[in-house]
Amino acid sequence: MEIKIAPSLLSANFADLAGAVREAEAGGARFLHFDIMDGHFVPNITFGPMVVRALRPLTTMRFLVHLMISRPEAFVSEFAEAGADSITVHVEACTDLCGVIQQIRAAGASPGVALNPATPISTVEHVLGDINLLLVMTVNPGFGGQEFIESTLPKIAEARRMVERTGRDIDVAVDGGVDCTTCGRIVAAGANLLIAGNSIFNNHLGIADAVRELEACATSCSQGSR
Ligand code: DX5
Ligand code: ZN
Repeated sequence: MEIKIAPSLLSANFADLAGAVREAEAGGARFLHFDIMDGHFVPNITFGPMVVRALRPLTTMRFLVHLMISRPEAFVSEFAEAGADSITVHVEACTDLCGVIQQIRAAGASPGVALNPATPISTVEHVLGDINLLLVMTVNPGFGGQEFIESTLPKIAEARRMVERTGRDIDVAVDGGVDCTTCGRIVAAGANLLIAGNSIFNNHLGIADAVRELEACATSCSQGSR
């Protein structure tokens, strides 16, 4: 299985986001993860579509926007226009999940759905025919640098089984506490898209080498688990 690495800008130096983007790309990253927090759905605030729009001309990396906000339907089109290639909403934040997914697709982006650690995977089974990314949160959303919650591993495995049953091309993504010490178990459980903030942007190797290291680590684990 091809492993994809998506550096999460949440842990980057916000005084030099352009530099962070260039270094992540230099390390071979093809995806970039944007954490959008509203201080309501999660107890933290980050940034809005302006930042996505400002960084869009700097890179061809695919922009994966992770909306940790209440009423995501109110902002989907703005993020799509700003340059999001993929928009992921939380199942816990949506009163009409199918409607939001259709809205994302109509806006020209690829839809994803995320679940908090306490949310059962069964809550997204009915939308698997309509999404391209299933994001299993492995920390409680809101902050970077938290410890990976080991008890989410069976849920990653269940997500992979459910995705396989559809026969559709859906990424099984993991977000929170991903580093070289956890990625082996994560990949063995069935994730193929690894989102990582702290382990990439606060790494003594530097950003580019941190991307390369995590990719090498995760890829060797995926080959070992075949
Ligand atoms: C957490 C965010 C994550 C965060 C992961 O709420 O959704 O994307 O950046 O950070 P690390 O990799 O530091 O756990
Ligand atoms: Zn995220």
